[in-house]
Amino acid sequence: MYDTMEALRRECLNCQKCPLAQTRTNVVFGVGVEDAEVLLIGEGPGEQEDLRGEPFVGRGGQLLEKYLAAIDLSREKNTYIANMVKCRPPKNRDPLPEEMEACLPYLRNQTAILRPKIIVCLGRIAAQKLISPNFRVTKEHGQWFQRNGVWMMGTFHPAALLRNPRNKPDALEDFQSLREKIHEVCTHTY
Ligand code: URA
Repeated sequence: MYDTMEALRRECLNCQKCPLAQTRTNVVFGVGVEDAEVLLIGEGPGEQEDLRGEPFVGRGGQLLEKYLAAIDLSREKNTYIANMVKCRPPKNRDPLPEEMEACLPYLRNQTAILRPKIIVCLGRIAAQKLISPNFRVTKEHGQWFQRNGVWMMGTFHPAALLRNPRNKPDALEDFQSLREKIHEVCTHTY
């Protein structure tokens, strides 16, 4: 376990723990402020993220930015954004269970350093691993769960919203519920 994000990042950038290391362009470690009380967790880098080394910078990322901006959150100011796996799965397939297991210690160490009050899982992959194995986004999005003293919620993955825009109003409600939860449990987010 590392005490600082910078030390952890340096280790992670050299990772060879799973075969995704062979096909990646860049490790996508995570981005945001290091005293963030809100941590957002996606699935894994896509093409743009792999090229740039930063999470959620493609079309899905632009949509995510809008939801964050609607509740005064941003990666520059007051959140941290990471993924279940730090390297792009080829052709954007789902990460394999063994790839997630290999990568999970990095996310756990990031969480230990940040000590967020709230974690938002973006999509099924993160929600099933971190909230409950049978999590159904369509049924359980926006519901709050407590895990180890941390409030957790799952919502739609931005890429899924681009494919299914009819879920966008529900996603906006989830982010509004996030704003309320921030007011309830966070001390310095706004
Ligand atoms: N999708 C994700 O889950 N994460 C990213 O960083 C980009 C797209």
